Amino acid sequence: KRIGVIYGGRSCEHEVSLASAVSVVRYLDTEKYDIIPIVIMKDGAWLWNVEPGQLLQASSDPELAAALASAPVVSLATDTQSRQFFALQNKQPLPADGRLDLLFPVLHGPYGEDGTIQGLFEMANIPYVGCGVLGSAVGMDKEIMKVLFQAAGLPVVDSLVYRHFQWKRDPEGLLNEVEQRLSYPCFVKPANLGSSVGVSNARNRQEMARAISEAFTYDRKVIIEQGLECREFSCAILGNEYPLVSQVGEILPGDEFSDYEDKYVNHTIQFVIPSTLPAETARELREMALRAYQALDLSGLSRVDFFQDKTGGQFYINEVNTLPGFTDMSLYPKLWAASGLSYPELLDRLIELAVE
Ligand code: DAL
Ligand code: MG
Repeated sequence: KRIGVIYGGRSCEHEVSLASAVSVVRYLDTEKYDIIPIVIMKDGAWLWNVEPGQLLQASSDPELAAALASAPVVSLATDTQSRQFFALQNKQPLPADGRLDLLFPVLHGPYGEDGTIQGLFEMANIPYVGCGVLGSAVGMDKEIMKVLFQAAGLPVVDSLVYRHFQWKRDPEGLLNEVEQRLSYPCFVKPANLGSSVGVSNARNRQEMARAISEAFTYDRKVIIEQGLECREFSCAILGNEYPLVSQVGEILPGDEFSDYEDKYVNHTIQFVIPSTLPAETARELREMALRAYQALDLSGLSRVDFFQDKTGGQFYINEVNTLPGFTDMSLYPKLWAASGLSYPELLDRLIELAVE
């Protein structure tokens, strides 16, 4: 099988994707698969056969960066009959190896995790790892995701959502409305992004105004959530119709909440797997994770994140991540490793599920 591992991408989680792709490419079994890494650069150009490790190095190596600048730019053409993708270089087919049998998107955030690229794969009639168009789209949008969680009877923290035009039209009125409904601190997040990019904790009106402006630089829609003194937990899910759910893990943030720096720069985030929750509570969380997976019509894989209010003990579902961080140090593979499935076995299983 020839597998195209597509990584990088146009979203602000580009660098996170490079890190995930380094591990995926390293652990895919080269005896079983012929691996073609394809990077989507931040400007949207697709480069053929560029290793994620090279790209990471290129940021500090001008010679390598120049070499990459001349790597073949490709576009993909499809033959829906033979379920194959062909890579075209300057509108000419690449040598015989332009064919791909299966695609593995290792992309985080918009244009990768949100159903857009999955739509391209569907149009091409080619199997791909992970959630479909609908699940990816609703799993990326923190507003719609919450609506679906609520419809499924899953507890969510109170929140408000605004579009950019509302903020431009009447910022003071919007702040008043937020203060009437929620109390400080609040989390302010771009509705469609991940890895805590653009997320702030606002402790007063001034910080709220700044946080909202900041979040609007990433998205036209912003969600403001009631902040909680909380613990964070997570479950990994793997499967299609009859998905498996891993043990529960606890995330120990490096700071007041798990921000981008904790996650990817300082690596201060730590995991406790399995969590110290009582068995019965853990069982309930795993059950909720499965319900969330089904409510959003997910397939392949997802990581489901929870909060527990430290004061009342109440659990809330925070979100799903349809293409969770995938380095060998990331939570999703670690949750499976703790449940007896190694990283390479996990990759094999995801590829099986893509063609199931
Ligand atoms: N959005 C990042 C990659 C995660 O959820 O792990
Ligand atoms: Mg996320």
